[in-house]
Amino acid sequence: MEKETNYARFSTPATTGRGKRLYIETYGCQMNVNDSEVVTAIMQQAGFITTDNMSDADVLLVNTCSVRDNAEQRVWGRLEVFRLQKQRRPDVIVGVLGCMAERLKEELLENGTVDLVVGPDAYRSLPKLVAGAESGQKGINTLLSREETYADIAPVRTDKNGVTAFVSIMRGCNNACAYCVVPYTRGAERSRPAKTILQEVRTLLQNGYREVTLLGQNVNSYCWKEPGAPDNGTVTFARLLELVALLDPSLRVRFSTSHPKDMSNAVLYTMAMYPNICNHIHLPVQSGSNRILEKMHRGYSREHYLERIAKIREIIPECAITTDIIAGFCSETPDDHAQTLLLMRKVGYDAAFMFHYSERPNTKAARQFLDDVPPSLKTRRLNEIIALQNQLSLASNQRDTGKTFDVLAEGNSKRSDDFLFGRTSHNKVAVFPKAGFKPGDYVRVKITECSSATLIGDVVK
Ligand code: 5AD
Ligand code: SF4
Repeated sequence: MEKETNYARFSTPATTGRGKRLYIETYGCQMNVNDSEVVTAIMQQAGFITTDNMSDADVLLVNTCSVRDNAEQRVWGRLEVFRLQKQRRPDVIVGVLGCMAERLKEELLENGTVDLVVGPDAYRSLPKLVAGAESGQKGINTLLSREETYADIAPVRTDKNGVTAFVSIMRGCNNACAYCVVPYTRGAERSRPAKTILQEVRTLLQNGYREVTLLGQNVNSYCWKEPGAPDNGTVTFARLLELVALLDPSLRVRFSTSHPKDMSNAVLYTMAMYPNICNHIHLPVQSGSNRILEKMHRGYSREHYLERIAKIREIIPECAITTDIIAGFCSETPDDHAQTLLLMRKVGYDAAFMFHYSERPNTKAARQFLDDVPPSLKTRRLNEIIALQNQLSLASNQRDTGKTFDVLAEGNSKRSDDFLFGRTSHNKVAVFPKAGFKPGDYVRVKITECSSATLIGDVVK
């Protein structure tokens, strides 16, 4: 397959790295995966070569997540491993990127392992900071920007399957959910110019990719107006989705994440109109209790959420719906928790990401509310939520048994090289015999068995 062409344009001299090796690890959300690809592009442009082997590398970077405490703890663990590398090879440069860099700033430099701290809007300065660190100067850049979208940088794809890719369409978040650290670590919301998004997707298509996921913290509020264009030239998310879908009918289009308060009918009608826009909406509810939703500052009620679900089902009857749920938010009562379980049953989610509440420093919840649900109770409630979701996921997969789906093959199945795995339009993983197919092919698969996590099927010729 043709290699991704890097058309990054920025002022870093192309010789900073001069063949030095870069190793990068990524934690957290899909946004971070895409950011690491942007970082790789910036570093390659500056002359670095990437390696998968940390003991080979001159520069070790870790792209981090702060959304829950355990995500940060994992990174501290990795920094211990990097410290050992540095003990053996004192010239190695260690850098922390992403949300933890933005949140902790200088504090990260204190333990002596870390040379660089670079926040999500400052990646263009990385080559310069690395050069400074090589001459013994620890570097920090955690400036947040109102404009930076890395719009001109073609991410160097690290997903390796060559079939599916993430494309950032916006950065930051203007919501202020009481529990969430993201608005502090990723700054204000800004949309990326539509033209550059379309160009990036065209390049992906030329390079053989068959699926893109448009990414943003709140994609429904995407809005781009080309300077000088008339007002009716404003590109909303619904329009962007349409423009991407129109690029090629064989390109699958996904998006994440939608905020229930901004999920418009226009997006639903666009999804219904284009068969290559996948029938899947990730609509994080967080809680089923109005009292908790208000305290979380989510900007919608249980009733509004259920009305949106009803509208999705009306306009796209076959749409998969998934969600995020937080168990044990401040002051959550047994009744609030019961409301969450009831709502889950009512919606019948196809899948969910479920977490216990983790207090994040300086958020509104940390400043104003008591984290008063004891850890053991949070765990018990979370386990109940997970057990219910397992039942719902199994029921959803059982409903698919006997049906035939178009599956986009992504790679060999974990259990055997004689099988491929891929995803249905509903974003469910399906495993099926290879039967001469390869990653990137669309395969008609009839589902014969399932678990709560996977569909298993046969190829229909
Ligand atoms: N504690 C637990 N879960 C959280 N999330 C965000 N912040 C927290 C927190 N402080 C979850 C939300 C969000 C997902 C990305 O992470 O469910 O939708
Ligand atoms: Fe955090 Fe809420 Fe923004 Fe999502 S919408 S990133 S949960 S503040």
